[in-house]
Amino acid sequence: MSEFIEKIPLAKEDARQDFLNAENLGGLESMRVRHLGVNGAFTALLKQIGKLSKEEKPTAGKAINIAKRELETLLKERKEILENDALKPNRPSDFSLPGRKSFTGSLHPLTQVTEDIVRIFRKIGFAVADGPEIEDEYHCFDALNTPADHPARDTHDTFYLKSEDPPPLLRTHTSSVQIRVMKKAKPPIRIVVPGRVYRRDSADATHNPTFQQIEVLYVDRKVTVRDLRATVEYVFRELLGKVVKIRLRPHYFSYTEPSFEIDFSSPLVRSMGKEWLEIAGCGMVHPQVFENVGYDPEAWSGWAFGFGIERIAMIRYGINDIRLFYENDQRFLNQF
Ligand code: DAH
Repeated sequence: MSEFIEKIPLAKEDARQDFLNAENLGGLESMRVRHLGVNGAFTALLKQIGKLSKEEKPTAGKAINIAKRELETLLKERKEILENDALKPNRPSDFSLPGRKSFTGSLHPLTQVTEDIVRIFRKIGFAVADGPEIEDEYHCFDALNTPADHPARDTHDTFYLKSEDPPPLLRTHTSSVQIRVMKKAKPPIRIVVPGRVYRRDSADATHNPTFQQIEVLYVDRKVTVRDLRATVEYVFRELLGKVVKIRLRPHYFSYTEPSFEIDFSSPLVRSMGKEWLEIAGCGMVHPQVFENVGYDPEAWSGWAFGFGIERIAMIRYGINDIRLFYENDQRFLNQF
């Protein structure tokens, strides 16, 4: 008898240690099964009671039940502690979990439009590229075949920084990134470049000294104006709806030949009393530009286009003053 009774506190201590040492809920559960489960140590002890004498049975049974109840209480406490631990943030982070949605605020309307445009281009295999806002004349103008007497290079049109000679400047367009990318990478190229640009405009309803552009460049073999047109149409229809119509009108840019302006028409434009609205410049990359970056113009062809993001956002949301985007007035921003 005494031998059997002695086993009970030992088995209990064994279980107690295992429950206390379990590091997580899974570990605790397997310890529960080991000690208190149907095939566990305590069940085995209970089964042996039958073999004891009539006098021993009640004492042993009582001792086992008390020990079991105590262990069950401990198990419950440990479970609560481990459940709480599981919710604590000081555990190793799982970076594959989806991000939490932010509960206040929203993205600026220009950011929303930019992200939408970039997403549309990514769907057709374009990668996002970037370049510096403080540029040199070479990337902004010379390499883009823009001659020294071009009005864009006038100090009244451009912000030059007098710190160095020749002075760097705030880029007047994102086309400079075409040069930076082509100088670094071999064709084929498919890039979309969102970015901020600067011009010496005074602010009015449709102008601001700083605004944002998207530049797109595609270089491959045997690229045609038809590819350009189809891409432009696809992008603007995805962005502003299937009712959108596109037209290319001959124009001049020094870095493309032929060059076009892209006009766009939709019920919204017509409701503004116009049939067409110009929204972008584009063309086939000029052979001289390919020469400047070291591409063989006989082997490679490409198109480029660029447009202002504010203009698109104004059309999309029916906004009539560009300055609203930069005033940070909550009454305006809260609508997006
Ligand atoms: N850089 C021009 C601007 O700022 C827009 C532009 C025109 C971009 C023609 C191009 C292009 O890539 O081919 O007005």
